[in-house]
Amino acid sequence: MRVLGIESSCDETGIALYDTEQGLLSHALYSQIELHAEYGGVVPELASRDHIRKTLPLIEEVLMKAGLTQQDIDAVAYTAGPGLVGALLVGAAIGRSMAWALNVPALAINHMEGHLLSPLLEDNPPAFPFVSLLVSGGHTLLVDVKGVGEYTVLGESIDDAVGEAFDKTAKMLGLGYPGGPILAILAEKGIADKYTFPRPMMNRPGLDFSFSGLKTFTMNTWLNSEQTEQDKADIALAFQTAAVETLTLKCKRAMVQTGHHTLVVAGGVSANLALRTRLDGMPNMTVYYPRQAFCSDNGAMIAFAGAMRQKALVPSDKPPTFSARPRWPLNELSPP
Ligand code: KG4
Ligand code: ZN
Repeated sequence: MRVLGIESSCDETGIALYDTEQGLLSHALYSQIELHAEYGGVVPELASRDHIRKTLPLIEEVLMKAGLTQQDIDAVAYTAGPGLVGALLVGAAIGRSMAWALNVPALAINHMEGHLLSPLLEDNPPAFPFVSLLVSGGHTLLVDVKGVGEYTVLGESIDDAVGEAFDKTAKMLGLGYPGGPILAILAEKGIADKYTFPRPMMNRPGLDFSFSGLKTFTMNTWLNSEQTEQDKADIALAFQTAAVETLTLKCKRAMVQTGHHTLVVAGGVSANLALRTRLDGMPNMTVYYPRQAFCSDNGAMIAFAGAMRQKALVPSDKPPTFSARPRWPLNELSPP
């Protein structure tokens, strides 16, 4: 079965074709970074309009790369939420229309489930059950995963998502957009232990996160420093270290609480090398990640999640209507 995946929840148009027998056939991504850079963040209306321009050409591109035509598509999976509602509606409208025209199922996929399952696209994938740490621009979640659609949220951020904290801190340091990867590169030039920042919520029991206090602490340290280039790098490193330590401690707690020995990390911040190095060094657990290109938003994870769900489903004959959900908690999902 070949599933076309369409991702358009934020500032990336991602399209892919996944075959349940042969694996990932092709994928293509268009990033809107340049479009939003001059505003210092994503402008929702510009994002929606750009998805309209890019989605169909990218679908043609992935079909061509795979040597296939639209008639070879057996199901169309699209991101139905969470995300920017206008951007979601573009993917939903195109996905559902195509599915209707081709007379194949349309699969409404949760974006965070896409991230959660993305490490399963790799060779040597993790086996269920596992703990998933989902770290993106909009979410920071620890999830107990028993199977596809069997998710129990163990903890989440009570304020900023970790990616958002990276982005806002980077903006404050004048590093540009999107700030997370730029801050991570700058941190490599920082002097370790020049500053030690508080590790948020470390002393409190439980698995929730909070990153807004760390962000404010970082801002105050920057404003009270001499604001040299070295100060900037040192502060970037201190921020990153505090964020990574917090994530690591909560992962360790989640492993103990669930009794699982497999940790799966996904979402944009899973590209962060300091986080990967720290987690890989933890005893008694094996850690899995998506490849670098599939840490941030992409169509492959949506096509794959669609394929996983469709494999288990009786073909549906739902009417060709659709909706998009800008907010869609993982724990409202049920198994396929
Ligand atoms: O998953 P994603 O592409 O989009 C959302 O679903 O939100 O995640 C994007 C987030 C952004 O906040 C970005 O700054 C962050 O992931 N990010 C990073 C790195 N690469 C991307 N944060 C820290 N270090 C990185 N290397
Ligand atoms: Zn994402």
